[in-house]
Amino acid sequence: MTTLPEIPSYGSDYMPTDVPGPKARALVERDGHVLAPMGRVYPLVIDHAAGCEVWDVDGHRYLDVNAGIAVLAAGHCHPRLVRVGQEQLARFTHMAGTDFYNEPMVKAAEKLVALMPGGAGWQVFFCNSGTEAIEASVKLARYVTGRQNVIAFYGAFHGRSYGSLSLTASKPRQRRGFFPLLPGTFHAFYANPYRPPLGSDPARVTETCLAFIEQTLFTTTCPPEEVAAIVVEPIQGEGGYVVPAPGFLAGLRALCDRHGIMLICDEVQSGVGRTGKMWGFEHEGIVPDIVASAKGLGGGLPIGAMIARRELAQRWQPGSHGNTYGGNGLTCAVTHELLCLVEEELMANAARVGARLKARLDDLLPRFAQVGCVRGRGLMIGVELIDPSSGAPDHDLAEAVMAECFRKGLLVLTCGASTIRFCPPLTLTAEQADEAVERFTLALAACVAA
Ligand SMILES: Cc1ncc(COP(=O)(O)O)c(C=O)c1O
Repeated sequence: MTTLPEIPSYGSDYMPTDVPGPKARALVERDGHVLAPMGRVYPLVIDHAAGCEVWDVDGHRYLDVNAGIAVLAAGHCHPRLVRVGQEQLARFTHMAGTDFYNEPMVKAAEKLVALMPGGAGWQVFFCNSGTEAIEASVKLARYVTGRQNVIAFYGAFHGRSYGSLSLTASKPRQRRGFFPLLPGTFHAFYANPYRPPLGSDPARVTETCLAFIEQTLFTTTCPPEEVAAIVVEPIQGEGGYVVPAPGFLAGLRALCDRHGIMLICDEVQSGVGRTGKMWGFEHEGIVPDIVASAKGLGGGLPIGAMIARRELAQRWQPGSHGNTYGGNGLTCAVTHELLCLVEEELMANAARVGARLKARLDDLLPRFAQVGCVRGRGLMIGVELIDPSSGAPDHDLAEAVMAECFRKGLLVLTCGASTIRFCPPLTLTAEQADEAVERFTLALAACVAA
């Protein structure tokens, strides 16, 4: 039996129940005429924003705990990023980083390297997005190993360009209509302790998933000496904010070492302080060969980075890989400042406020039978909603809760089959965390009651 929560006493101005308003509706209409169909989840039309708060064109205020899909690490319009961005915009923006030199690019790379394990011995290739960071990582792994095949995981999301789409395996619609994909990609099982693959023993999920690679993939379809890389998210993002069972990443590291395979960690969503450490893999004490970063890295500007062990990156010949916009002066200046903020305060805040947010969300487990699992690290937290009678993911409930949150002034997103994700700016305060949980609880209670 679900116990309904108490209604918190926010003023009526907190509850934009009449959304979308007339101005938002008008813009949605114009958008539909000129923009290709995308996956808009609810009709939020942003007007301006600050920190963790967003106002729409009709003047409604929202608490933002999705941060533009885990991007705005420092929140909206952080004064330090605004200042640095404005100064750089007036100095120069672009001078083709793969062909010429510029200091913002070097400073951003120096800071990134300093924030990698050991603080040295890494080299950076800048690009413009997560999918490009993955493409660069896989290209480097193939180049240095001379091998063709790549292993990724069911539930993974690595991007939409053809190489990374071939690794992506979280929803059929992402691949439907786009085959054939890149040959030589294989998928294995991610060690999801809440939903162990193929009904395996939850206590042995790590062993089961690792054994599948070595005892099934490697002995049937995919000879290990032809595998260039294993690509893994330290926490699966789009796949449902799944924290792998302990020992999974360490097991992959050992497996890669045994077979001369490059371990690529996709930190596009989990990196840059979001989990309370700089990189998600640090929670497992492993060091990958190559790291792909993006999203939070630019504080809202488009940037991606492949960060590789120096001796690997050095193997590329001039011109082996390149692009036009990577190392853009504006994005790199803002990225450097963002990384300073992450190091100085945001990472610690993500750990501290994330623990509080998770504890408050954990409190919902005994109150709602529909809350199957609360999981995450730092400010990367997922709440999986289930059908209590079967334990199956309740996709419709998750969609309804997301829409109801919007009407209650809270911006969240779903991921996986039925998970509501909390990936707010890393500036979230304890009070904002509490407000987010209260609004979420109200929305959940309303949907459950309906
Ligand atoms: C883990 C992960 N990798 C890669 C990507 C692709 O990033 P982008 O959309 O910037 O290409 C995403 C995007 O959601 C992601 O979550």
